[in-house]
Amino acid sequence: MSGSAGGPSIGPMSTRTVLITGAAGGVGGAAVRRLAGLGWDVYAGIRRPSDAGRLPAGVHALTIDLIDEETVEAAAKEIAARTGGRLDALVNNAGVIVEGPVELVPLEDWRRQFDVNVVGQIAMAQAVLPMLRAARGRVVNVGAVSSRMSGPAFGPIAASKAALASVTEALRVEMRPLGVKVCVIEPGLLDTEIFDKSGASRRATGWRGDADAQRLYEGVTAKMGEFNARAKPGPVDSAVKAIVRALTARRPKARYLVGRDARMMATLARLPDHTRDRLLLRTVGINAATYGG
Ligand SMILES: NC(=O)c1ccc[n+]([C@@H]2O[C@H](COP(=O)([O-])OP(=O)(O)OC[C@H]3O[C@@H](n4cnc5c(N)ncnc54)[C@H](OP(=O)(O)O)[C@@H]3O)[C@@H](O)[C@H]2O)c1
Repeated sequence: MSGSAGGPSIGPMSTRTVLITGAAGGVGGAAVRRLAGLGWDVYAGIRRPSDAGRLPAGVHALTIDLIDEETVEAAAKEIAARTGGRLDALVNNAGVIVEGPVELVPLEDWRRQFDVNVVGQIAMAQAVLPMLRAARGRVVNVGAVSSRMSGPAFGPIAASKAALASVTEALRVEMRPLGVKVCVIEPGLLDTEIFDKSGASRRATGWRGDADAQRLYEGVTAKMGEFNARAKPGPVDSAVKAIVRALTARRPKARYLVGRDARMMATLARLPDHTRDRLLLRTVGINAATYGG
């Protein structure tokens, strides 16, 4: 049996089918438009049916909430019925960001983070893998460079993306002999609404812990907020380009870093742990005095 490198490339002239989750969002919406423009037959997963009107003509809207298994299964069935059981690509893009100190983030938020960003992506892949195998297709998981390096108040999102990167690696090796190529896109900061949504849901659920515990971290979250406000997000288009490359390259890379900040973080991630910790805290301006209480 041939390895992944021996699989056929996806030719530019054939009509290729792709399912993109989180298609109402910044990266997902742009990827839908780009791939539809390139002639792909696009299935777009949206959480709210009312978002279907935002999709370009000809794109098939599918209601998919990754934490509702029934919607995932129903979407896979609909694709199978329309395509005869073949799918050229899954772009597992939907995701949420939960931020905050490990001690303060409510467990329900930790669970939501992993339910959407990890278990949900796995559920979607499980549902369509038979169709991807039939087409010797591809899986492109949208991770983040935080999979390689975490930091203060970044635990939940970084842990979920590290888990997703690990799942991607397992699936990549499992599928290699079967001709399905699997990779992960790892952007740095992008210009989308995801952080606004994360802030809104944090304000809705609040922190766990008593007033003393919450006071302890006030300075830390403030410093991280200032640091993030100074950061310049990259264009969504950079992530879309990487997705298209991962879908069309004859030999896609296992991982695509997207953006200068991502490449810098990936380099920092290779430093010895304690050196990196010190550097990170100094850069962000956090020390013992930052902790109140
Ligand atoms: N923006 C960044 O800085 C950045 C950096 C690195 C990686 N990423 C990754 O890029 C991907 C796309 O994010 P984005 O920046 O484009 O953010 P976004 O605009 O918020 O898009 C995320 C999409 O995921 C959907 N989604 C959320 N929960 C879902 C669920 N339970 N089931 C199905 N769909 C769900 C959202 O739907 P609703 O709109 O209905 O909530 C939205 O359409 C994510 O995986 C994110 O982690 C983003």
